[in-house]
Amino acid sequence: MKSLVCLISGRGSNLEAILRAQREQNWERTLGARLAAVISNRAQAGGLSIAAAHGVASHVLAHDTFDARADFDVALGQIIERYEPALVVLAGFMRVLTAQFVAAYRGRLINIHPSLLPAFAGLHTHRRALEAGVRVHGATVHFVSGELDAGPIIAQTALAVAPGESETHLAARVLALEHVLLPRCIAWILAGKVRLEEGRVLTEGLGAADLMTFAT
Ligand code: GRF
Repeated sequence: MKSLVCLISGRGSNLEAILRAQREQNWERTLGARLAAVISNRAQAGGLSIAAAHGVASHVLAHDTFDARADFDVALGQIIERYEPALVVLAGFMRVLTAQFVAAYRGRLINIHPSLLPAFAGLHTHRRALEAGVRVHGATVHFVSGELDAGPIIAQTALAVAPGESETHLAARVLALEHVLLPRCIAWILAGKVRLEEGRVLTEGLGAADLMTFAT
């Protein structure tokens, strides 16, 4: 059985979407894979209760108990390695990872970001998209590279920004799309339909309509 490890920092709605997809699509049977553990860098992350409710092992590794970023990443790697994961998913994990950590998980580490990268890397993406007046906004799942919110793009989902739309409303609409996009990308990787090779994303049996979805 392939295992999946999810890193979170907060609410955990993407984690919940992964668990829902795992159950509804019976990943254990169809993909021979299951979510083995959740690791949070914050003890108060809501996602920890979601993990507990689903009987998934969870760990808290508080980043503020480490003096150096590199030490935190080493400790994080040690917990992750207990599960020998086929894939590590950053699902709202709000920490920059060191180059060493990222290199160790190259091709097995993905992130979901609430914007159409490379636009609006970083925080407050919805507010910044509204301020910029973009008509199209969305979310991206990508393999993680050394830089913040950067790396080879796997798939994106977009929506049309409504005239006068509020930040809260836009954020909720993008989040609903994230909950579809992230489990799909995970399933593709576990099924061998998406992989990273020499820095490029290779896909098998997927078309443009799979890799880019658009909602109005
Ligand atoms: C999501 O918008 C995700 O794209 C971003 O952080 C947020 C996490 O939300 N990286 P949740 O914890 O999954 O509810």
